[in-house]
Amino acid sequence: MVKVNLEKCIGCGTCKADCTAANIALKDGKAVHGKFCLECGHCLAVCPQHAVALVGNYDPSEIIEYDPKQFEITPERLLNFVKFRRSIRQYTGEPVSDADIAKILEMGRYTQTGANMQLLRYIVLTKDTLREITPIALTALAELDVKSVDKKAMRVPHQYLDFQSIWVNWHQVYQKNQRDLLFHGAPNALLIVSRKCNEVDGCLNAGHLELMINALGLGACLMGFGTFAFDVSPELKQRVGIREDESVIFMMVFGHPKVKYLRTVNRKKVKYEKI
Ligand SMILES: Cc1cc2nc3c(=O)[nH]c(=O)nc-3n(C[C@H](O)[C@H](O)[C@H](O)COP(=O)(O)O)c2cc1C
Ligand code: SF4
Ligand code: SF4
Repeated sequence: MVKVNLEKCIGCGTCKADCTAANIALKDGKAVHGKFCLECGHCLAVCPQHAVALVGNYDPSEIIEYDPKQFEITPERLLNFVKFRRSIRQYTGEPVSDADIAKILEMGRYTQTGANMQLLRYIVLTKDTLREITPIALTALAELDVKSVDKKAMRVPHQYLDFQSIWVNWHQVYQKNQRDLLFHGAPNALLIVSRKCNEVDGCLNAGHLELMINALGLGACLMGFGTFAFDVSPELKQRVGIREDESVIFMMVFGHPKVKYLRTVNRKKVKYEKI
């Protein structure tokens, strides 16, 4: 809920102009809020008088004032950072510290969600849990009856089903020498969990989380196959406490990289039209 300090409000209308829900009116030179509010905080962020606050389950002490010195990131540096981002498939065994995990989750918390719904939650898997679920996930993929899968209901591309012979091979390798080709032997994993309607929110979140993981000098690998394993294995969902009406929107593994990339790679030309 939004609260306006009427003593501070000078009725400038800056908040009204930026409210996507058209929830603010000016009455007698003061901002007055209606009932349809997304709690997006735009009114709070633009008010020159510090007259607006989000109240309820919010911590006022986490608000940061704008400081141009904190934005010293050039487009070239940002692009360079993204071009050097790689999916990491070799890890040292060292677990990621709780302090770094907190920074990664803070990145997710501040990533935008449609209609500001903020319905995502996260499950961080420790090394022990990840090692425990690895054989369950590999068995689920290797033994999946692909013919019975409803392709239209799949949240990942149905071409994934063509990979089953690879999953069977990974399963055999794991049974033989415990080598984990699915989760790359990573020390940690992160599940972005929500109800089924929230796909784009979850995917956007995954991208941002990975950027923070990279900024911390760590590495990550998005897990399409791992995500699919949660979709087809109720046992896997149950093991990590995911409710029936929820799904893993995306899974990623992360940790300290055991590989250093010395240069960028090529990509296909951008497909682009201006009409
Ligand atoms: C949606 C998505 C799903 C992915 N799933 C997997 C996966 O299951 N296993 C894996 O090793 N890599 C996975 N990746 C990593 C891609 O293979 C990788 O991003 C791509 O080959 C480009 O390499 P780069 O990330 O190093 O630039 C996935 C990436 C995305 C975006
Ligand atoms: S931006 Fe602040 S000062 Fe201006 S009308 Fe809104 S609440 Fe009042
Ligand atoms: S929080 Fe967002 S939706 Fe609510 S009144 Fe402020 S700007 Fe409008």
